[in-house]
Amino acid sequence: MPRPISVFVCSACGGETPKWQGQCPACGEWNSLEQRAARRPAPGKSGSGTGGAGPTGAAPVPLAAQENLALERLASGQGELDRVLGGGIVPGSVTLLGGDPGIGKSTLLLQVAAHVAADRGVVYASGEESVSQVALRARRLGVAASTLEVLAETDLQAILAQAAARRAALLVVDSIQTVQLPTVAASAGAVSQLRECTAELVRFAKTTATAVILIGHVTKEGAIAGPRVLEHLVDTVLYFESEAGSRFRIVRATKNRFGAVNELGFFAMTEGGLKEVRNPSAIFLARAPEPAAGSIVTVMREGGRPLLIELQALVDRMRFGAPRRIAQGLDANRLAMLLAVLSRHAGLSLQEHDVFVNAVGGVEIDETAWDLPVVIALASSLADRAVPGSLVSFGEIGLTGEVRPVAYGEERLREAQKQGFRVAVVPRENAPRTSRVRPGQPSEGIEVIAVSRVSEALEAALSRSSPGSAPQIAPARARS
Ligand code: TYD
Ligand code: MG
Repeated sequence: MPRPISVFVCSACGGETPKWQGQCPACGEWNSLEQRAARRPAPGKSGSGTGGAGPTGAAPVPLAAQENLALERLASGQGELDRVLGGGIVPGSVTLLGGDPGIGKSTLLLQVAAHVAADRGVVYASGEESVSQVALRARRLGVAASTLEVLAETDLQAILAQAAARRAALLVVDSIQTVQLPTVAASAGAVSQLRECTAELVRFAKTTATAVILIGHVTKEGAIAGPRVLEHLVDTVLYFESEAGSRFRIVRATKNRFGAVNELGFFAMTEGGLKEVRNPSAIFLARAPEPAAGSIVTVMREGGRPLLIELQALVDRMRFGAPRRIAQGLDANRLAMLLAVLSRHAGLSLQEHDVFVNAVGGVEIDETAWDLPVVIALASSLADRAVPGSLVSFGEIGLTGEVRPVAYGEERLREAQKQGFRVAVVPRENAPRTSRVRPGQPSEGIEVIAVSRVSEALEAALSRSSPGSAPQIAPARARS
């Protein structure tokens, strides 16, 4: 006996429960559940009563018929953004650009919108700022915005109607937290609004081939209310990263249906808006001229290119309480593992020490190649001996104290050599063949020290170290 099926949907988080409750079991919000008709199962699913009737809905299309599809991407005018997107903005795609408030999302997209508007229709829907505020900003940015149309509107249906009427090639929504659909009984920014609006925008993009870019604020406390809940709905997810107080900005693709993930784009915030940074290694390597204890350079490779960055470690005798382990830009759990490996396999116990590590420049490193350089930096800080400024290192460390190879070893070595580094401490399997036969042999201008145990790596790096710079009274040394 089928009874009317209804569910209770939370207006705050969109979670569903079969029974009414005072508190949403998903997000803990009180009095937020509303009765809705449940979605009916798709017809013809259960096998009963399909006799005779043909299939309904869209018919499958052979992929081969799509071969000469003109997937002409739009150039954003920012080479770094285009590379993160995988070669430009794909028509009909939906991109979410997330980041902390004030990091430069509106600035970047206003620059992009103005560039695209030079020869295509663009609608910039701003629910955050008035048209005159956007115009002021555009003037300050010096963008040729004469053809760019700005819409100060928060009603999503009105925005879509305008974009459709203008046959816009690009629609920017600043921000998804400010738009709303009248059919959803929740205020703008609530998770159910965010979801429904994004789904509506996705439908619009797919049916009109308009590229849509959404701005989403990441809120400090509530990641749940932020753009994270939208990630699965959109094609591409970009996040702004930055170190507090730094004028450098990194845009990272964490999801991309049209390109590589973890591709990074580098920008600098200037008076005239965001400017691309062509040689990013240079910004991360703005180091003090004298090598300091606890500092080392590593070659990370995220996205399509290798990047030299400085890692710093500080080991300090613990004053009271439990020892602190603080990691900036690196995974703190992995740091704890490395400390255990150091203690068991290199005889270096930091039980009584506070440990801080930092990836300079505000970049987040997701790969394991920083294991080896961090361990060397820790040992360098503990011994207060500086590793040479011309030394780089990369490599993964296993639980048994072995040094494991990482992907793209040769490419990383080449980049280090190109940037003028002279010595590389790397996993044995990552060393070029020649130096495997004769260890220590210079290979293409860089001396590769191949190591297979963590203790071996520490010995190799610290045997070349010089006393630390803690008391700044030592005379300047001639650097090798
Ligand atoms: P904005 O793009 O408004 O940030 P978001 O949209 O992510 O919240 O950027 C605001 C910051 O950028 C603000 O602190 C001022 C700075 N800024 C510049 O330094 N130069 C500029 O040309 C512009 C437009 C902004
Ligand atoms: Mg903004």
